[in-house]
Amino acid sequence: MTAATPLRLESPALKNAQRTELHPELNRVHVRFVGLGKTYNGQQGPVAALQGIDLAIQHGEVFGIIGRSGAGKSSLIRTINRLEQPSTGRVLIDQVDIGEFDEDRLVALRRRIGMIFQHFNLMSAKTVWQNVELPLKVAGVSKDKRERKVRELLELVGLQGKHNAYPAQLSGGQKQRVGIARALVHDPAILLCDEATSALDPETTQSILGLLREINQRLGLTIVLITHEMAVIRDICDRVVVLEHGKIVEQGPVWEVFGNPQHEVSKTLLAPLQHALPEELQSRLRPLPLSSETAVVLRLQFTGSATDEPDLAALFSALGGRVRLLQGGVERIQGHALGQLLLAVTGSPFDAEDVCQRASQWAQQVEVLGYVV
Ligand SMILES: Nc1ncnc2c1ncn2[C@@H]1O[C@H](COP(=O)(O)OP(=O)(O)OP(=O)(O)O)[C@@H](O)[C@H]1O
Ligand SMILES: [Mg+2]
Repeated sequence: MTAATPLRLESPALKNAQRTELHPELNRVHVRFVGLGKTYNGQQGPVAALQGIDLAIQHGEVFGIIGRSGAGKSSLIRTINRLEQPSTGRVLIDQVDIGEFDEDRLVALRRRIGMIFQHFNLMSAKTVWQNVELPLKVAGVSKDKRERKVRELLELVGLQGKHNAYPAQLSGGQKQRVGIARALVHDPAILLCDEATSALDPETTQSILGLLREINQRLGLTIVLITHEMAVIRDICDRVVVLEHGKIVEQGPVWEVFGNPQHEVSKTLLAPLQHALPEELQSRLRPLPLSSETAVVLRLQFTGSATDEPDLAALFSALGGRVRLLQGGVERIQGHALGQLLLAVTGSPFDAEDVCQRASQWAQQVEVLGYVV
């Protein structure tokens, strides 16, 4: 990768106040789904892909949609530009029901909504420049304006040195940069991303996310993003919704859903971000203390509801005895401290309930996992 300088990722909540100042419309609903349902005619009969979706996406936010395969994520996102026609309910954009739009208004709507895809969907026989220029040509934009726009966008996505390259000569990250430039040609108000980083390696993913975040902040664009990669949601989304069997099972600010997921599906999806108990330790765990040398193993969760990082001195002093750190860490999402610590505590003659009680002042959730010698 040459021109594509990875951008530093900043926390999504970052300077929310400042963003609100820059984009006063930030607290306004941009996309609203009202009682939305979608039923497909499958080969084995009707498939209810979405049911009773009520949801609001704000202007200027990066909104994540997660869920298992088949949960209805793509169906939902595609109703925003009416690539899918809802079976029931409505989609409102800036309070206007798009269900009533005729062909002309639909074309205009789709120009205001950019979309990027997992497999980039570039034209292989056209150069980078031509790929980005094409939608402008189709829209009848003059040559001068096209030139200015394509140049500006290729610079924005860091591809100024690649105007004449063909897609086959580009890395995955560069192809997605072309996809992003093409999606922005009509200055859209919304950018839809369906698994836009799933075909990329982690480093390239980070650089594309940095670019999306930059576009979101610089242009005040609303981004709706589907991904199977929970780290992507953690790194750039403001809020997230969890779908299961076509229904919303959980939604909220990312720090809240990630810090303390309520629904089984959310817990399962987020499990890869959790530190699992090391296997070796797991095999030595006993349900009851064996001797005075036994250490009690605790899992402490920091769910982000207290904004301060954990006070370890206070925690250790409350626990008493000798405290060893087995595993864990804390990270910050949207300014909230989230994470977990696995601790082994010895030398204090207290029972499980007592130890939980003591620790619970200093962590949001405390659990005794067992005992080790
Ligand atoms: N054109 C179609 N015809 C029939 N059934 C469909 C069609 N499109 C989607 N479905 C079904 O609707 C349900 C939701 O599909 P959708 O593609 O929205 O899920 P998804 O959450 O995007 O899944 P994935 O993570 O695998 O992309 C699935 O059961 C799917 O099989
Ligand atoms: Mg999908």
